[in-house]
Amino acid sequence: MELCKKVMFIVFLFALAITLSQETRALGLYGEDLETGTMGFKDVTELLLQEMRCRSIQNKQQRQINLLGNLARKLQRQVQDITQKLPHSEDEENLEEPPIFHRSANKTHTRNKRNIRSGPLPSGIASGATYTRWGRKTCPPGAELVYDGVIGGSLYTHNGGGSDLQCLPHNPQWGTYKDGFQSSAFMYGAELEIQANDPFNKVNTGRIRTLQDETPVCAVCRSINRSSQVMIPARRECPESWTQEYNGYLMSSHHGHKRSQFVCIDGAPEVNEGGTGNQNGALLYVVEAKCGSLPCPSYVDGRELTCVVCSK
Ligand SMILES: *[C@@H]1O[C@H](CO)[C@@H](O)[C@H](O)[C@H]1NC(C)=O
Ligand SMILES: *[C@@H]1O[C@H](CO)[C@@H](O)[C@H](O)[C@H]1NC(C)=O
Repeated sequence: MELCKKVMFIVFLFALAITLSQETRALGLYGEDLETGTMGFKDVTELLLQEMRCRSIQNKQQRQINLLGNLARKLQRQVQDITQKLPHSEDEENLEEPPIFHRSANKTHTRNKRNIRSGPLPSGIASGATYTRWGRKTCPPGAELVYDGVIGGSLYTHNGGGSDLQCLPHNPQWGTYKDGFQSSAFMYGAELEIQANDPFNKVNTGRIRTLQDETPVCAVCRSINRSSQVMIPARRECPESWTQEYNGYLMSSHHGHKRSQFVCIDGAPEVNEGGTGNQNGALLYVVEAKCGSLPCPSYVDGRELTCVVCSK
């Protein structure tokens, strides 16, 4: 390109010089250095030939670019055709994964692979956040029950064991066992310690009048059409665009006991009807705010903290 430009510039200058010399000749002023000058007509012809060669290279390149463009458009059409022929998994009935074409050594063959297609997945197929609904044995609308049980954990005076709480199913299955205590890790049932501080609604307690010392139940739920879930402490409502699964009060171990876990207990809990009073175990107390590092007055000293479980 550089060379072509130079050549064209020189040709232009030459043409200008010839024109000027003709002008001068017309005026009767003969410019003798035109024929005897540094550049004869031979040189001009040579330059013109070079310029033509440059142009033919440019044309060739342009043709190649056009060809590549056509090829790209053709490939694009083929990709579109193949994409349209793939089964549409928007179809709720068709739970089988779409076949994906893989290039193998001899020819293409189909193979099922999970989650290859990009973009948002159809609702109800890849969604389903699971969470524990502490304090209830049923799941909210839009969620299905995985299993229900009772809350268990470590004894409130024990240093070790798991600090988190468990949702223990009603019907345990055993492996190889040796009855009697040989190991030193234990699972206790939980008890609600709410004698002095009971914010709970009693609509789901049946014939049980007080929840004190009762073992709270739990349900593990799967939110069918939503794939994320979060427990937000100190809130009763979910952020915009999130769906509330349940709300209630935050509970944990007594500050003088061993550490356990903060869990969100449903605001209208159910208790395990088979339970028999005060036996202790994993003890749960309603959590209250303590001002200091905790910013008050948005928080209030000694006030019971709420909680909400949300999904999206
Ligand atoms: C290519 O592979 C497929 C299976 O992947 C097989 O069924 C087919 O016979 C093979 N073709 C040749 C020509 O080897
Ligand atoms: C899940 O989404 C599908 C499709 O939008 C809808 O038909 C179904 O009722 C939803 N299920 C629940 C439990 O919300």
